[in-house]
Formats: sequence, structure tokens, C-alpha cells
Amino acid sequence: MEEIIVTGGVRLKGSVKISGAKNAALPILAATILTSEKSRIKNVPKLEDIRTIYKLFKRLGIMVEEDGDRDREVVIDPSTLNSSEAPYDLVKTMRASCLVLGPLIARLGRARVSFPGGCAIGARPIDLHLKGLKSLGAEIGLESGYINASAQRLKGTNICLDIPTVTGTENIMMAAVLAEGETIIENPACEPEVVSLSEALNSMGASISGAGTRIIKIKGVTELKGMDYSIIPDRVEAGTFMVAAAITQGDIKIEDCIPEHVDHIIARLRDAGMFIEEGEDWVRVKGGHKIRAVDIRTSPYPGFPTDMQAQMMALMSLSDGLSVITETIFENRFMHALELKRMGADITIDGHSAVIRGVPSLSGAQVMATDLRASASLILAGLSAKGDTIISRIYHIDRGYECIEKKLEGLGAKIKRVRG
Ligand code: EPZ
Repeated sequence: MEEIIVTGGVRLKGSVKISGAKNAALPILAATILTSEKSRIKNVPKLEDIRTIYKLFKRLGIMVEEDGDRDREVVIDPSTLNSSEAPYDLVKTMRASCLVLGPLIARLGRARVSFPGGCAIGARPIDLHLKGLKSLGAEIGLESGYINASAQRLKGTNICLDIPTVTGTENIMMAAVLAEGETIIENPACEPEVVSLSEALNSMGASISGAGTRIIKIKGVTELKGMDYSIIPDRVEAGTFMVAAAITQGDIKIEDCIPEHVDHIIARLRDAGMFIEEGEDWVRVKGGHKIRAVDIRTSPYPGFPTDMQAQMMALMSLSDGLSVITETIFENRFMHALELKRMGADITIDGHSAVIRGVPSLSGAQVMATDLRASASLILAGLSAKGDTIISRIYHIDRGYECIEKKLEGLGAKIKRVRG
């Protein structure tokens, strides 16, 4: 098994380019199923989760042509779609595979998708996905761990989401674009990845308005054409490098990002004493002389993103006071705290809140990655810690960060990947 070894104490300096967003690419790739025409997707990040959805496409009979000489571009040809089954072995490795549910029902009138289990950070049910698809007229059954869905033609309706679920909103939106009549989604997720999916679908000929607001309207159309679409930058990767500058008291220019998408992260890092400049497509973060303790409460966009909670906990471990981090989205997203404590962090977990008392420094240790963003948190802690931090189970990090050690090395970090 591979491990990452980080030797702390280097102030990171320089510039880093942000890759395409995993959480934008996955629904947009799923949306290509909605037509038999080819789609070209650009700025696709090179990640394990992307490779997993390509494997799923091949199981569905969809052609995936990665354009060798044009890096990060892929052509999807769904004209040969010949299956409606997303099998257990793939869904268990990536629960976002359930994003093919809506498109398959809309395109083929049927789908058989392995019921995604929970994951390290929580139960992560998809009851709201299924409730929305049922409201659109799909028959949904559960049998031997699979969701069996069928529908003659979906019919537009009003759907009011109890929770602004990101992939739930995306699944329902993709099912509704080919439904008969209008669908209104109330209380949808407003994340930039949802907005980018609506833009991609509209470029295919869909008629969606209101994405990014509290009401999305979708007028069903009879067919869609292929898209030619470029994936938006990954706001969580950008935020992670912003924290890397803060935690090492460095100076990093994060390029190819959308500052508006990281507004809340900028605000909290400024509260924590960082100096931040914003440009058209870049953000520059300079670490302060000290790290001020700030309280964090995660919430749906445009609130503070849950996917940045672990990274901020690493930073607050070195603050000048006491900080409370409250996780309101997932029920078990504090596992990184146990590993940070092995490095000397002073953290007390109390239900959905973590109380962090800043310490002068962390010490390198052997630690274990438990999920994608927890892995990032441990790398960030290692960049600042005294000595070496050896992180195992780094397959988690490869799911969502493209060559993170190379990008950090480019900023001066002492970091390497070794065979454990
Ligand atoms: C998306 O997950 C992201 N993944 C997650 O990123 C992100 O943390 C999350 O949104 C929240 O922003 C992708 O986009 C592929 P939710 P998703 O449905 O859609 C509950 C990462 O690190 N819920 O918005 O699965 C759920 O349990 C990953 O990149 C239901 O109860 O999250 C959770 O408490 C991690 N029933 C809350 O809603 C449902 O049917 C928000 O979940 C659906 C969700």
C-alpha cells in the first residue's frame, strides 16, 4: 500500500493551478447519457473517481474516448448504450455512481442501480433522490440490494426537497429535463456544481432556469443533443491550497479558480489573520504571523462548505485560542480529529461540535487517512508539524485531488509518495 511522507517546517511559496472539479465532472459526465449524440468534456480532472465512472460507462456499453493529445479531454459516445445496470462492485467504490439513475430512467425508461451503502462520513441515504424520481412518475422497487426503477415517460411535477441535497438535486434535474411538462424543484442545492450542471444541460438543449436560487424550473423537452463543455475549477482543491498557505505561513497564488466560489473560505481565513488578494481567476493567500482562532459552522452553499471542515480543523489546531467547529451536514465527519490528536492537537468532540484548543506546534506521526477530505487535513497538518508525518491509506486522497504531492512539491513542500 502506498503512503505519503511529509516533512514539515517549509513555508510554501509560489503558484499552483487548480484542476477541474470532481463534484462538477461526475454529474456532467452522467448527463451525457441523456442523448445518443457524442459529447466532448474538457478540463476533466485525472482522479480515481473519474476513472470509476468511466468503468461504469463501459459496463453500460458507452464508449469513452480519452483524447490522448488533448489532455483532460474526453469524448463520450452513448449511442451504444446497451445496459441499464450500475453494478454493486462499482457503486460500492463510488456512491456518486447513483448519479446515473436519473439519466438512465429518462433515456431508457429503466434503471437497475446498486443501492449505495453508507461511507465513512455518514449513512448518506438517497431517500430524497428516490422520492423525487417517484414524484416524476418512476416506479421504484428495492430488491437484493438494487434499486429497480422504471417509467414510461416521466411527467413534470412540483418537488419540495426536505434537505437541499446536492446529488439529489442533480439526479432529479437530469430526470426532469426529458419529462413531459414542467418540473419545479423547491429548496434545491445551490452549489456551483449544480449551477454548472444546469448550464451543461441547457447547452444540450434543456430548458432550466433558477439553478443557484431557491427555486429551479425545468421545462421538459423531447430530446437533447451532445454537449461541448468545460468543467469548472475545483473550489475545494482551491480552498485546500489556501489553507496550505495559511498553515505554513507561506505565500501561495492559487490560479485557475473562481474566487466567488470560495468567498466564505476567504472570509474565514481573513478572520483567522491571513492576507488575501483576489483577482479575476486567482486568489493569493499570505499566512499571518499567527493563526487567530475562529469558529466554523458548516452549511449548504453559500455557507462554509462541509468539504473544507477537516482542512480548517488542521489550521485551528495551531490557533492562538479556542475554536468551535460545528458540522451540520454529515453525522460522522470528525474522524480526522482522532488522527490530528495523534500529532498533538488538543481537540474534544462533543456530538456535532469539535472544540479545538490551539497548540504551539504539532509533531509528525504515523497517521491513517479515513476519507477524502480527512486525508487533505492530515497532509496540511504534516506540512506544519515538526518532523515526518507518514500517512497511510492514501487511496482516499487520490479520489479527489489530482497529483497533490506534485503540486505541493512545486510550492517547496518536502513530500513524497512511497510504497508502504
Ligand atoms: C455531495 O454529496 C458531494 N459529493 C459531497 O462531497 C459533499 O460533501 C456534499 O454534497 C455536501 O456538500 C458529490 O457531489 C459527488 P448531500 P451528496 O446529498 O450529494 C442527507 C467530497 O468530499 N441526505 O447534499 O451525497 C445526507 O445524509 C464529497 O467531495 C438525505 O438525508 O450530499 C447529508 O446529511 C463528500 N437523503 C445531507 O443530506 C438524501 O436523499 C447532505 O447530503 C440525500 C441526502
